[in-house]
Amino acid sequence: MTHHKWLLYGAYGYTGRMITGEALKRGHRPVLAGRSASALQEFAKNFALDTLVFDLDHPNLVNIVRGFNLVFNAAGPFSKTSEPLVRACLEASVNYVDITGEVAVFEKNFSYDAAAKKQGIVILSGVGFDVVPTDCAAKQVCDRVPQATDLEIAFAISTGGSTGTLSTALEAAPQGILERRAGQIVPISHFSDNKRVAFMDRSRTVMPITWGDLATAYRTTGVPNISTYVAVSPAVAAGTRLFGKFVFSLLKNSLVRRLAQWLIKLLIKNPNPTTSWNAKSYVWARARNNEGRQAEVQIELPCGPYPFTAVAGVASVERIFRDRPTGATTPALAFGTDFLSSLPGTKILNT
Ligand SMILES: NC(=O)c1ccc[n+]([C@@H]2O[C@H](COP(=O)([O-])OP(=O)(O)OC[C@H]3O[C@@H](n4cnc5c(N)ncnc54)[C@H](OP(=O)(O)O)[C@@H]3O)[C@@H](O)[C@H]2O)c1
Repeated sequence: MTHHKWLLYGAYGYTGRMITGEALKRGHRPVLAGRSASALQEFAKNFALDTLVFDLDHPNLVNIVRGFNLVFNAAGPFSKTSEPLVRACLEASVNYVDITGEVAVFEKNFSYDAAAKKQGIVILSGVGFDVVPTDCAAKQVCDRVPQATDLEIAFAISTGGSTGTLSTALEAAPQGILERRAGQIVPISHFSDNKRVAFMDRSRTVMPITWGDLATAYRTTGVPNISTYVAVSPAVAAGTRLFGKFVFSLLKNSLVRRLAQWLIKLLIKNPNPTTSWNAKSYVWARARNNEGRQAEVQIELPCGPYPFTAVAGVASVERIFRDRPTGATTPALAFGTDFLSSLPGTKILNT
């Protein structure tokens, strides 16, 4: 793998560090990059890897990425970082991947499909926990239900979110919680859509969440109605039912969001990496059609979402170099649903 040159932007972030570790484990030599010279130097001193410091408004961004086979963007929120890197990659004919889960970023990047095909490159967003397992799950169930009309996807994790993830989620909070109805992305009309889902290990209460699949599963399957859920404790589900509307209306205020950002930085600790590698995660999906046919899949992943992102992310890089997909696409369309089962420790049960 060392003959392929790739750049990891945001390398010294919480997830970027895990991606670096996984890349080295698998024999890659990515060039580590980021905007802070001191943070990059401090992180990179542990490895004999080249480094590059640059901001995303650098006037020579195209020349910086030229010469690489691929740019891996791990710097989020991606609403701030994806566009300049995607444009530079398009101009320089360099493959682009990222680990966004932001619906608007997916939608924007899909709009570059024709341009990416013309340049012979792939633009592949969401090569992490959001959305590799859920995208493959969506395709698996929809492939088994002719003309599926409704797709539900749920996941359960046992570690908390990183400060980076929570800050990114906060940015999208003013839109409320979203779903896809009749092909359109719309805010959910109420906060009471809690249900029980039978994951592979046990049943859990889930509540609606905005998840990348509202964009990607639609792209992958074309199913017009998509709902995404996260497993929560019954107390959180009840709290959201009672106060969800109020909290989301508060978060429309930019001052409140700034205060919340400050509190996240002050109070939230990133998940312990060792615990995360040993914490299993679960995904469930169900497709239905108007004739009452349905199919379900249950998936167990061997680790938490952040290590999984590192594993799936580096595996995606390897698949791109091997299979050379082109266009702006999704993990399941680029690599097929077998991609998920090829990742070590993944169990899949179709029912
Ligand atoms: N798809 C998935 O399953 C998945 C999994 C994990 C993470 N994520 C997403 O990945 C992102 C990073 O998460 P994390 O936990 O690694 O967060 P983090 O520890 O806060 O790291 C964020 C990284 O992005 C860089 N960055 C942020 N804004 C930037 C900008 N405008 N220009 C250049 N660099 C910028 C930061 O650099 P500075 O320190 O210099 O600001 C840092 O290196 C988040 O958006 C998160 O939601 C997605």
